[in-house]
Amino acid sequence: MRSIAIMNQKGGVGKTTTAVNLSAALAALGLRVGLIDLDPQAHATLHFGIEPKPDEPSIYHVLTGKTRLGEVLRPVAENLWVMVSSLDLAAAELELVNVIGREVILRDKLRDDPPPVDYLLIDCPPSLGILTLNALAAVGEVFIPLQPHYFALHGLSRLLETIDLVAARINDKLRLGGVMLCMYDAGTRLAAEVGQDVDAFFRNARGQATPWADAQVFQTRIRRNVRLAEAPSFGQSIFQYAPDSHGAEDYQRLAAEVVARGKG
Ligand SMILES: Nc1ncnc2c1ncn2[C@@H]1O[C@H](COP(=O)(O)OP(=O)(O)OP(=O)(O)O)[C@@H](O)[C@H]1O
Ligand SMILES: [Mg+2]
Repeated sequence: MRSIAIMNQKGGVGKTTTAVNLSAALAALGLRVGLIDLDPQAHATLHFGIEPKPDEPSIYHVLTGKTRLGEVLRPVAENLWVMVSSLDLAAAELELVNVIGREVILRDKLRDDPPPVDYLLIDCPPSLGILTLNALAAVGEVFIPLQPHYFALHGLSRLLETIDLVAARINDKLRLGGVMLCMYDAGTRLAAEVGQDVDAFFRNARGQATPWADAQVFQTRIRRNVRLAEAPSFGQSIFQYAPDSHGAEDYQRLAAEVVARGKG
């Protein structure tokens, strides 16, 4: 099983849009995909048309109680399951403060009850708190969505520092697998320049002893496309909502790249 956390502590960069539509694209290739919604906002859960209910088992109960992952697994399409979030998850951060080993709860739950999938994706919240640490402790790879503006690289150093610390202390197999540029305004100078800067940053890191030494910037740019912004309110992936849109085309190409890179 390949496991990937989609993370960036900056809000609104395209994490959930990527987590949902990349999952759907991988499932359409015939791969079995599970997406864990680890964000109290429950946007990925909602994007798949599931209304989070506080009395139904969710990732909150998995992290804070005896609930098994299998109990929160919901089928949403062929080959595709989501492990649902709920608003309660916001309280988990505080509730877990005094729990020993709180960073590795999700890792252990995955070990006890591995979902029957080829790809496991995790949609992280926009913070570097205990929820995101649980994701980093549990996966083999991190993908970082970036929005191409001049401060795109700015928040990256803290993010990479966090990945480095988790790799050193909790999960030595953790690697930054890739960076994708989202909401890309093709044809603008700004997008092209930031794209080049990001490419150069990771090229220069090659060969260094860091978890991002092999990180690639995906060639597929996810263009800005209003269909991608509309799809969540219909509870549908882009492939159900607008299969002929640029958004569908881009996430399909991204999925092909992700699979190709996974084969080394
Ligand atoms: N390529 C795109 N084109 C147009 N709109 C997009 C695109 N990608 C994402 N959006 C929209 O931008 C907003 C933020 O995207 P998204 O929710 O995926 O970001 P996020 O990083 O998950 O945010 P948060 O940090 O709050 O979890 C959403 O309204 C989404 O529909
Ligand atoms: Mg999100």
